[in-house]
Amino acid sequence: MKKYNVAVVGALGAVGQEMIKTLEQRNFPVHRLKPLDIASNKGKEVFFNGEKVYVETAEKGAFEDVDIALFSAGGDASTLLAPIAVEENTIVIDNSSAWRMDPTVPLVVPEVNPEDLDSHKGLISNPNCSTIQMMVALKPIHDAYTIKRIVVSTYQAVSGSGQKAINELNQQAKDYASAKKMVHTVYPYQIAFNALPHIDIFMDNGYTKEEMKMVNETKKILCEDIKISATTVRVPVFRCHSESINIEVEKKIDIDNVIKLLTSAAGITVQDCPKTNTYPLAIDVAGKDDVFIGRIRKDFSIENGLNMWVVSDNLRKGAALNAVQIAETLVQRNLL
Ligand SMILES: NC(=O)c1ccc[n+]([C@@H]2O[C@H](COP(=O)([O-])OP(=O)(O)OC[C@H]3O[C@@H](n4cnc5c(N)ncnc54)[C@H](OP(=O)(O)O)[C@@H]3O)[C@@H](O)[C@H]2O)c1
Repeated sequence: MKKYNVAVVGALGAVGQEMIKTLEQRNFPVHRLKPLDIASNKGKEVFFNGEKVYVETAEKGAFEDVDIALFSAGGDASTLLAPIAVEENTIVIDNSSAWRMDPTVPLVVPEVNPEDLDSHKGLISNPNCSTIQMMVALKPIHDAYTIKRIVVSTYQAVSGSGQKAINELNQQAKDYASAKKMVHTVYPYQIAFNALPHIDIFMDNGYTKEEMKMVNETKKILCEDIKISATTVRVPVFRCHSESINIEVEKKIDIDNVIKLLTSAAGITVQDCPKTNTYPLAIDVAGKDDVFIGRIRKDFSIENGLNMWVVSDNLRKGAALNAVQIAETLVQRNLL
């Protein structure tokens, strides 16, 4: 089997670390792993398959011996370095929002639209973490019933804002326990024991950029005609985004059939038994690969509506795993 030189850009970050772990766990055919990060982190160590590997600087020239690069170093790094990597004949799978809405760049969730990879020109985007888990959950329902409208509210973990936010929640919880004053630098307000209806920046239309990512990316991946409204909220959870999703569909909906469709779909685990208080929880889903779905029930306020609760690990399916699955799909489809 052919093996590939794989770079992870932003290798020391929350997603970068998870990418390295995921490449190892899924036995991706790596010939050489090249961890790249900002110049000030050069020489730091990461571990891959039990071996120590030293971090190099992500810069022009660093991609010349790289077949595929998984980027998770933020939008500025991707805007600058992804075209340089492509120029150096590297296929880039980018986790930032920098290239997602570029019409020449495929935006892919392998369970949903793998065929979009066939037209790639060297640069492929990973959707936003909250969009990915919603797409996996909605694709089987859309195929069977045709979704007309989505209303989604999210409850998003702090790891979605990177390592510094994980540290901030940890520190605030410790400070609370020892009655110290809590300090915040990552978020505009204290996140511990709080809920912030504010993820990414506010746009002129009153929505946040995170909310508009969910709207625009859903239209690009699933269907341009779907109407969608999103409210995204940061909650004091370390890992896993939870989503309350309400949909309206065109055809008469049959809940038992929906459960059957979801149960047999790739990448989904249904956990739904009100009698035994069974539904997906962030603390249980952390570290797992699937998108977990529960609280599946009819919306009685409209003719063909449905509500459900969807939980997934934002660092795995929401970022690292989806990126590695794209790389695997490129190999399977002879596109690498
Ligand atoms: N966290 C998630 O759930 C999630 C999900 C989907 C997508 N993403 C996206 O993935 C990217 C990274 O997120 P993260 O959560 O892993 O953030 P993070 O924990 O802050 O990690 C980012 C890493 O990239 C490094 N870096 C910064 N500028 C760089 C540059 N110009 N060149 C190379 N490396 C650079 C950082 O170094 P320093 O810390 O020393 O600056 C850090 O090691 C973001 O674009 C984010 O939107 C994240």
